[in-house]
Amino acid sequence: MKYNRCGRSGLLLPAVSLGLWHNFGDVDDFKTGRAIVRRAFDLGITHFDLANNYGPPPGSAEKNFGKILKQDLKPYRDELIISTKAGYLMWPGPYGEWGTRKYLLASLDQSLKRLGLDYVDIFYSHRFDLKTPLDETMSALESAVKQGKAIYAGISNYKPEQTTEAAKILRQFGTPCLIHQPRYSMFDRWVEDGLLDVLEKEGIGCICFSPLAQGLLTDKYLKGIPKDSRAAKPTGFLKREQVTEAVRKKVAALNELAKKRGQSLAQMALAWVLRDKRITTVLIGASKVKQLEQNVAALDNLSFAAEELNQIEKILS
Ligand SMILES: NC(=O)c1ccc[n+]([C@@H]2O[C@H](COP(=O)([O-])OP(=O)(O)OC[C@H]3O[C@@H](n4cnc5c(N)ncnc54)[C@H](OP(=O)(O)O)[C@@H]3O)[C@@H](O)[C@H]2O)c1
Repeated sequence: MKYNRCGRSGLLLPAVSLGLWHNFGDVDDFKTGRAIVRRAFDLGITHFDLANNYGPPPGSAEKNFGKILKQDLKPYRDELIISTKAGYLMWPGPYGEWGTRKYLLASLDQSLKRLGLDYVDIFYSHRFDLKTPLDETMSALESAVKQGKAIYAGISNYKPEQTTEAAKILRQFGTPCLIHQPRYSMFDRWVEDGLLDVLEKEGIGCICFSPLAQGLLTDKYLKGIPKDSRAAKPTGFLKREQVTEAVRKKVAALNELAKKRGQSLAQMALAWVLRDKRITTVLIGASKVKQLEQNVAALDNLSFAAEELNQIEKILS
């Protein structure tokens, strides 16, 4: 595994991190999830990313990961970076979502219980809340850190100007913002439009989620929608309608280019995200151990010739 420094902090994160949004809920096969986590750790993936609402049902991914921690990884707690988040809908009533102190701190306590942990390594505000003062949301992250329930604070899905403001507030509190978690892949490039510049300026690390566009940036949908794929599953966030002919055409062209590089398309897509030095780590998902192994092997070839990057731009445009 290759480890990259997270922004201007001292923390090293693996270039490939594993997220538990899909494949770890009560609707999924626990044995497979357990095998994926164990293999990930053996491959040097020290960072596992969760959120209060991952499942389904919400909370079940944390509960199942807690079980794996207890069974397998307990002796290695100090070798692990475990994150969780709060921001999306978790329980009924006015205190079960968004960015108040009430919600964030109650949610973190619930997450720790499900995970069976005393603390997480990173606690995130999962989304910006227009109706709560940012000072209040950031003060909840600061309190979590000061109470020893989180080691670092992070933000996710914040726009560039919201990120600048959050970083300023957290710095004033003496709890610097460690990391930002945005979506970034060949198919979704919004971070290039200002966010990466802000992160570099503020010294904040960047962990990019859905770098494979939920599986679209692999060869799996080239000949249809496989039965065991995310797009086919009723609980999957990726919908069949998103696998369009236009997407397939681009993916087929990217796939040919990846073959010429001696990589799978998944590997090329991950290497492409990591080409920018401001990216700390790609946050992947996996439904099978084999996918995880293939994705980690992307690190064997991270360099791109200028001509290859040009070709990718042409295909994507
Ligand atoms: N902060 C946020 O708001 C936010 C939002 C979304 C996600 N996240 C985080 O990001 C993590 C990753 O998101 P993601 O799962 O969408 O990431 P992704 O890596 O883009 O997609 C993962 C999915 O692609 C397929 N796949 C992976 N490797 C493959 C390979 N080598 N060949 C073929 N198919 C492959 C698998 O789906 P199949 O089921 O089709 O096999 C896998 O579950 C989440 O777990 C979560 O931690 C954060």
